[in-house]
Formats: sequence, structure tokens, C-alpha cells
Amino acid sequence: MQTAMRKGTGASYVKLPFRKEMREMGNENDNLKTAPAKEPERTFFFMETARQYVADLAEKKGSPLTCCVVTFGCQMNARDSEKIRGILTEIGFVDTKSEEADFVLYNTCTVRENANNKVYGRLGVLHGYKKKNPLMRIALCGCMMQEAHVVEKLKESYSFVDLIFGTHNLYRFAELFTKMLLSDRMLIEVLEGREEIVEDLPTKRTYSFKSGVNIMFGCNNFCSYCIVPYVRGREVSREPKEILREIEKLAQDGVKEVMLLGQNVNSYGKNLESPVTFASLLRETAKIDGLERIRFMTSHPKDLSEELMDVFAETKIVCPHLHLPLQSGSSRILAKMNRHYDKEHYLTLVQKLRERTPDISLTTDIIVGFPGETEEDFLETLDVVEQVRYDSAFTFLYSKRNGTPAASMPDQIEEEVAKERFQRLLEAVQRIAAERAERLTGQTLPVLVEEQNKQDASLVTGRLANNAVVHFPGDASLIGQIVPVTLTECKGFYYVGSRHA
Ligand code: SAH
Ligand code: SF4
Ligand code: F3S
Repeated sequence: MQTAMRKGTGASYVKLPFRKEMREMGNENDNLKTAPAKEPERTFFFMETARQYVADLAEKKGSPLTCCVVTFGCQMNARDSEKIRGILTEIGFVDTKSEEADFVLYNTCTVRENANNKVYGRLGVLHGYKKKNPLMRIALCGCMMQEAHVVEKLKESYSFVDLIFGTHNLYRFAELFTKMLLSDRMLIEVLEGREEIVEDLPTKRTYSFKSGVNIMFGCNNFCSYCIVPYVRGREVSREPKEILREIEKLAQDGVKEVMLLGQNVNSYGKNLESPVTFASLLRETAKIDGLERIRFMTSHPKDLSEELMDVFAETKIVCPHLHLPLQSGSSRILAKMNRHYDKEHYLTLVQKLRERTPDISLTTDIIVGFPGETEEDFLETLDVVEQVRYDSAFTFLYSKRNGTPAASMPDQIEEEVAKERFQRLLEAVQRIAAERAERLTGQTLPVLVEEQNKQDASLVTGRLANNAVVHFPGDASLIGQIVPVTLTECKGFYYVGSRHA
């Protein structure tokens, strides 16, 4: 196996075979220069070119090339990964879950330090695989790549990575991938901001019966602890007609459940040329034939309108579940977090929601140990948890993100103190969630079956409209169907059920 030293870094990497031939192929037809300037035509052009290269490599390998796309982080990233997988499978890759594949891409998250560290750890393992497979290429994209210090570190110490791109140029993946095949060096393209929204690129859905749908990109809120606005850019909404067209196509293709995605869906449409509200988009979505469930994520309490609260009661297929991140129950901390609401406003919203839809499920995100959080502040958070009685909650230890205002605030909380509060919060959240879940035991409710149970193949796993998980006896033929299930036993955060005849 040939190895070469990369100048300046001192790192060694395996020189890939075929690159020279591929470059010659590229030069020979001088093809790439004739690429159309406009998207999505440009992407389709590069997909065609890449397809030929991939076929050539597969012939040399003697079997199809395999790809593995690993997603870290939120639903936005999950959706982006489906788009990448869509392109990869169309250009001839066989999708696999094994990271010992010919092309491995990590779609990264940087919302908390531990999300970030996971990637570095796993890259070491990938390097080992790459040494054994001279065909292998490694790519990184997503939120971490938007941070200059991350790209610097990768250039310095992870020179075996072949391609790096960010969140704003995901639509250029086919082109970047093709150019990576022809390049001897790490190819890096990270843009500062979004240039355009490109519609109609291929996707490969993880589930045949449900799908995420981006309705907006970016975030304008600058909560003081949060890195997302820096790595995802300013908020832009897609045109409603494009969204509805996408969902209509999904419904025709057998999708029963859509999840409308945005960092703050409640401000959807405000900046469009002809402004529309999120509630009106939901009403239009609810009219689409074949759809049975509509979910959405995430709602910022500061923008939750009465109009939206009414939609739950008005439209049957909008699921009675709202994820309404609290972050903290202390008005003093909420102000420091730049959340633009206080404890009282939040509690009023909950009261109004429950007046309209008494059985609505409420879930939330809470951060413990924000700079300056006192025991009193923390007790305010516990108080909201006790009053609202969430169906479930994601709890996070505050993680300092360099570049955000909170990172330079005084009184960063000691880890011990934050951890102790975290445990108390977790205990309250779990106790209340289990008590809440109990109320549905004995009822027969529709379950959308998602998969065969991972531990016990005689069971399938699905979700209620309120998003709670149910396991019940059944086989794979039920996957994608909505069936009535009697919830025989509540196990805290999930149910065991039996199929209702
Ligand atoms: N746009 C969504 C949240 C996206 S990030 C919203 O505003 O609700 C998902 C969750 O990660 C946030 O709700 C928050 O609870 C948590 N989070 C974000 N930054 C964090 C940080 N620096 N430390 C700990 N948790 C954080
Ligand atoms: Fe982050 Fe706040 Fe934007 Fe959510 S709304 S992504 S927490 S800045
Ligand atoms: Fe993470 Fe980016 Fe989502 S930072 S939470 S993947 S928007």
C-alpha cells in the first residue's frame, strides 16, 4: 500500500488508487466546465458525472460501492442526511449501516460540547478502516463544520478526511463529491451564509410512511447560550406552495405522517414576500389527501399565537402534542438567556392550550446550570415542571459554546452543583411523566407502527398521536399502518399494548 506525507501537517495518509485515472477522465472530456450554472440542473449534471465515476470504481472493486451516512443532532440534520443519501444512492452507492464502507459521511452537530467530542472520537476509528480500504473516502458536513476552529483542527490533525462542507452548501453535495473524487487533497467548502434554497433534489427517506419537511432554515433568536444561529445562519422560510407541493408528493408516495421542521416554526412565513402564518400553513397542510398525522418542531413560546392554539382543536390530523421548550422557569434567567418571555407568560400559554385542548401532550427542553443560576432560580424551574406536568422533557446540562454571549458571562456554575440539580430535575420529570402516562392505560388508541421491536422480534413498536411509544405483539407487515391498540400496561415512558380486533 502506498503512503504519502502531506506537507506541513506531518500526518500520513493512504494515497488512493484511481485518482490519477479519474482526473484524466475529468480532463479528457473537460466535462465539468460545461456544468449548467443554475440549480437543480447543476446538481443533476454532477450526479450524472459522479455516476460514471462510481460505476468505474465499482468495476475496479468488483462489487458496488457502499456508503454510510451517520447523523448527529436534530431532525434538521436527519432530513439533510436523507437528501445526501438520496444523491448517493442515485449515483450508484449501496446504503449500509456499517462504517466500514467505501464512503462514510458524518453529518455533525455542535449544540453541546459532547455532541462535538463524539465526532473526534469516532474519526479515529474511521481512520483505522481507511488504512485497510484504499478506496475509502471520508466526508464531514453539518453544524460543526461552520466553526472555523473545528476546520483548523481537522486540517491539522485529521488530514485523512477527504471532504468538508457546511450547512449552507448542502445542495452542492453532488458537485463537491465529484470534485473530491478528482482531488488529491482535503477539499473544503464552507460558506458564511445561505445563498439560495434549492428545491427538488432527490431524497432517500429513512421511513416510507413518515417524513420530515423543512419549512424554514436558520434562526434569528440568538438565545444567549445557543450556537445554532451562528452555524445555521439567518431565518429564511420556504414558499408555502413549495412546501405543500412537497407534502402532496410525499402523501402520494404513501407518507402518512409529516413533521414540519424549523428552529422556530411559530415565526414561519413572517419574512416572505407575501407573509403567511404558521397556523395557516398547518390548515392548508391538513387538507392534503392521504395524510393522517401532522407534527411540527420546534415552537418558541415567545411566538406561540392564539391562532396556532386554535388549530389543534380545529384540525383533527394535527397531533395533540406540543413541544414547547421552557429552558428555565426563572424569569431572571430567561431574561439572561434572551428568551423574550417570563415564567408567568409561559404558564399562561400552557393554561390557554389546555383550555382549548384539555388532553394535549406537552413536552419541553430544559437547561440546568446556566451561568448565574442560583438555587432559587432552579427551584423556579422545578416549580414550572410541577405545575405544567410535562408528558416528557429533554434535560440538558448547560454547555459552554464559545462565541455565544453566555460563554463570557460571569458566574459559570460548577459542574458538581449543576449535576446535582440535574438529578433532582430528572427525578421530577420522570416521576411526573410516569404519572401522566398512567391516564391512558386501558384506552384503545390508534398507533402508527414504525418498526419491529429491536429486543423482541415478536413485538412491533409505534407511536400514539401524542407521540408516546407503544410496544405490542405484531409482525413486520404492520409497519406503516395505523392500527387500534389497547394500552394494557403503562411502563412509565412507554406502553405495552395488545392489538384491538
Ligand atoms: N430551536 C429550538 C432548540 C434547538 S436546540 C428551540 O428554541 O427550542 C435543542 C435544545 O438544545 C434547546 O432547546 C436547548 O434546551 C438545548 N441547548 C441549546 N444550546 C445549549 C447549550 N449551550 N447547553 C445546553 N443545552 C443547550
Ligand atoms: Fe437556539 Fe434559541 Fe434559535 Fe432555538 S430559538 S435554535 S435555542 S437560538
Ligand atoms: Fe445540532 Fe445543528 Fe441541529 S447544532 S441541534 S444539528 S441545528
